[in-house]
Parts: sequence; C-alpha cells; structure tokens
Amino acid sequence: MLEIKDSVAVITGGASGIGLSVARYWARQGGKVVIGDIAEEALAAAASEIGGDTVTVMCDVTSEEDNARLADAAVARFGRINLVAPFAGIIMDALMVSPDRETGKVTKKMSLAQFQKVVDINLTGVFLTVRECIERMINHGCRGLICLVSSTGSLGTAGQINYSSTKAAMSVMPKVLTAELFRRGLADRIRCVAIAPGYCATPILEGMNQKALDKILKDVPIQRLIEPEEVASLVVELYRNEALTGEVFYVHGGLRLGSKG
Ligand SMILES: NC(=O)c1ccc[n+]([C@@H]2O[C@H](COP(=O)([O-])OP(=O)(O)OC[C@H]3O[C@@H](n4cnc5c(N)ncnc54)[C@H](O)[C@@H]3O)[C@@H](O)[C@H]2O)c1
Repeated sequence: MLEIKDSVAVITGGASGIGLSVARYWARQGGKVVIGDIAEEALAAAASEIGGDTVTVMCDVTSEEDNARLADAAVARFGRINLVAPFAGIIMDALMVSPDRETGKVTKKMSLAQFQKVVDINLTGVFLTVRECIERMINHGCRGLICLVSSTGSLGTAGQINYSSTKAAMSVMPKVLTAELFRRGLADRIRCVAIAPGYCATPILEGMNQKALDKILKDVPIQRLIEPEEVASLVVELYRNEALTGEVFYVHGGLRLGSKG
C-alpha cells in the first residue's frame, strides 16, 4: 500500500469541485498538492484554504507549454510526482440536431465550436497533462498513479455527444497506458485508472438543464447527488491500493444507467 504522507499530487481543475476536494483530502492526509487551473481567484482561494506547501500554477490544459510548466513546478518544488489527477473539464450541452416540434425541420445544431471546445479541454487537455507528468515520473523514478476522470456519461447521455465522447475516451485510456507501461517494464511502478462519477454536487452541474437533472435524480437509488468528498475518498483509496490498475471505477450512488429495472 502507498502512503499519502509527503506524496505529491498534480491536480488540474483543482480550483473547484472534485479537483479541489481531492486537493483538500490529499493535504489533510499529509500529502503535497500542486494545482493547475485557469480560474485565478479560485486558485488563490484554494491555496489559502489548503495552506501548507500548496503550489498553484495558472495552467490552461489545452496548452502544451502550460502543462509542461505545471509538471516542472511539481518537480522543482517537491522533486517528484506521485498522483496525476487531470480533472479540468467542462460541459457544453446541446442536441446534435434539434428538429422543430411543429415543422419537423432542423432549426438548431450543435456548433463545431461547442463540440471542439469540450474535446480540447476534456480530451486533448488530459492527454497533454498526463504526457508531461508521466514523462517526469519516469525520468525521476517516481511511483504512483494516473487517475483519469470519466463519467457515467461515458455510456451515452442525450444532449452530451461532445462530453460523452470525451468521457468514453477516458475509460479506454487506462487500458492503453497500462499496456504501454507494461511493455516498458514500468506498470508495477506507475499505474493508471479512471474513476467514473455519477452526478456530483459541483458547479459544473449548473450548466445542465435543471429539469433533466431533477428527473435523472429521481432514478438514483441513493436519492441525492454524490458529494465531491465521496469521489475524493475513492481517488485516495485507488492511489493507496497498488493492486488496482487498468480499470474504470464507478461512484454513482447506484444510478441505473438507462435500465428501468
Ligand atoms: N460533477 C459531476 O457530476 C461530474 C460527474 C462525472 C465526471 N465529472 C468530471 O469531473 C471533472 C471535474 O468536474 P467538477 O464537477 O469538479 O467541475 P467544476 O466546474 O467544479 O471544476 C472544473 C474546473 O476545471 C477548470 N477548468 C476549466 N477549463 C480549464 C482549462 N482549459 N484549463 C484548466 N482548468 C480548466 C475550471 O476553472 C474549474 O476549476 C470534470 O472532468 C468532469 O467532467 C464531474
């Protein structure tokens, strides 16, 4: 089992929601935290709340340079990276095509910008953060975990063709990375998993259709949103338990994923 104390977590999107909750949880257990985000004020608030040695970096995850600076900041300050949590993410929901109810003709379409922006942040951004961090983890002989964030949306949610596609990608990446690391004899040292939360109480949900969300929640067996802390506790357990790799771990309160059963 790995210990959290003095282990170094690099967390993107760590100024809010699930990323911030992981940062708090990690620091409470004696870990060191490096947070990358684009929200300057929220970053400063996170640093002063968590305190200690917390490092913050203004980092747009779509930028190669920013991701390299983020990973370098962790190595420069603490000499290593042990947990990579590339949690920066957005939603921009819309139907791909919306036919008018009266005429039956398509009147609205998801724009290319709406599709591309979600892909840039949720998919390309994760690729860049993980690539820059894993390079340094290998070169500095670090032990630890890459923990991606998929979603129950990876199974396909109407109105989220952009988001669901990126989250489906997150559920295949642990298999690819684990296989690649295994080929190079590194998979016992650097593991990769994904978590797949259901609907979790964070600001990202403000971008959803609230009526649709209420309807979805009626079908969730625990009858409430998941708390960010409940997701953070899973991330920490995945880090500690070195038998866990290459897999997706759901935390969704029993959400029935489309089944009416
Ligand atoms: N909340 C949920 O219900 C839920 C469910 C499943 C998966 N997730 C995933 O968890 C992750 C975190 O979501 P959250 O609910 O905490 O959302 P959030 O909106 O609370 O936090 C997202 C953070 O990402 C940052 N961010 C956005 N664009 C960025 C960029 N280009 N570069 C750097 N940072 C950027 C934001 O500033 C914000 O601090 C996302 O990947 C999301 O898809 C959330």
